Amino acid sequence: MENNINQKPVTVVLVGIGGYGALYVDELLADMDNSLCRLVGVVDPAAAKSPKFDCICERGIPVYATLEAFYNHNQAELCCIAAPIQFHTPYTVYAMEHGSHVICEKPLSGCYTDGVALAALSDKTGKFIISGYQWSHNRAILSLKRDILDGKFGAVKQMRTKILWPRRESYFKRGSGWAGKRCAADGTYILDSVANNAAAHYLHNMLFLLGDRMNSAALPVSVDAELMRVNPIENFDTCAIRMHTADGAPLLFLATHATKENEDPVFIYEFEKGSVSFAAAGGHGIVAVMNDGEEISYGNPFDDQMVKVRYALRAVRDADARAELPCIVSTAVPHAQCIWAIRDVPIADTPEALLEEIPGGENGEDILRVIRPLHDAMNLAYDKCCMLSELNDAVSADLRKVLKPVMGLSVGERVGE
Ligand SMILES: NC(=O)c1ccc[n+]([C@@H]2O[C@H](COP(=O)([O-])OP(=O)(O)OC[C@H]3O[C@@H](n4cnc5c(N)ncnc54)[C@H](O)[C@@H]3O)[C@@H](O)[C@H]2O)c1
Repeated sequence: MENNINQKPVTVVLVGIGGYGALYVDELLADMDNSLCRLVGVVDPAAAKSPKFDCICERGIPVYATLEAFYNHNQAELCCIAAPIQFHTPYTVYAMEHGSHVICEKPLSGCYTDGVALAALSDKTGKFIISGYQWSHNRAILSLKRDILDGKFGAVKQMRTKILWPRRESYFKRGSGWAGKRCAADGTYILDSVANNAAAHYLHNMLFLLGDRMNSAALPVSVDAELMRVNPIENFDTCAIRMHTADGAPLLFLATHATKENEDPVFIYEFEKGSVSFAAAGGHGIVAVMNDGEEISYGNPFDDQMVKVRYALRAVRDADARAELPCIVSTAVPHAQCIWAIRDVPIADTPEALLEEIPGGENGEDILRVIRPLHDAMNLAYDKCCMLSELNDAVSADLRKVLKPVMGLSVGERVGE
């Protein structure tokens, strides 16, 4: 984004500067150097633990322990929120009530109903809320969505996605200890899991691409779920989730933190008139092959991951850009509804016989917990486009014995409860 010489830099406050927030610091400091914005404060109760603390202090940017303290002394046109999930809604509300537009990290929140209240508040205050799914701001994904909406691909037949992202114990113990939690101490829903955090993008992306407008996402009608856990957490670290669209097309999502092998996201989306695929490891970006042989390269969905911040900066100044924001609060609601719909699905614990513990870290205490047959089972389920419990091979037989599948949950009924 070029800065128009007549435009004043957008004033910005950033909430959460450690963890993922460090990437916001880098982006905002670069945008500041390009005169796009002015970072007028950061908020983090553990700011000094962030690797970015020193450079924030060197630049003379004020640091606050609470958002209240920031707004008591200051104001900002844009508030960026990269704090843990339980703070997404209260901080978004607080920032809007104090005159700021908001970009808040994904997921929307732990509770899908927050989306309705936030959208109403956004209308009332005239402040936008961007949900920080970077793929939904990415050029390749947006041009694919344009073609889907223009009817180039016809109706969707099936979609499948797989992510194997091993995470060690330190991941689950990071920050203020909210990882893998269902609720915060005050009862606020978090529902942190592989599907609501690290791999949330790829579940959301299937719904996003099927939205009936550039900034909407499709709501699944029903959902099947198999949830597992190998780490000592409240929620699940492994899942097979299959959503069904109103037309009955299955959207399969296979994700885990419990394999030895790291396999970055892959997807195959099949439509009437062609098929779209992506393999992060392949280096080819998103490629569509139409039934008539035409090939279309859309580009890499991992390019320019912080472009979402520049969308926000532009939208503060430009009403037309605001109207075209691709991922606003309502766009993030279908993902949140899906997570809500499966919130009480029983989680299968991993029996000793299937568990492998791989020591790591300086003194070997940073353990990676692996569910032994999972790597092969996930790959087979992806190839066959089926749930883990629907496999019939020998390798996954022991795994299938422990799964607790729940099929055909009505999303409408579950979110109405
Ligand atoms: N878009 C992405 O690719 C991506 C990647 C990782 C995380 N995230 C999202 O970013 C958010 C933070 O995740 P994380 O993994 O960085 O968490 P984290 O726990 O590692 O870091 C959170 C940061 O927020 C700070 N913090 C904690 N409580 C706070 C409070 N009350 N007010 C202000 N700051 C507070 C912490 O001190 C820390 O600096 C989550 O919503 C997560 O889903 C997004």
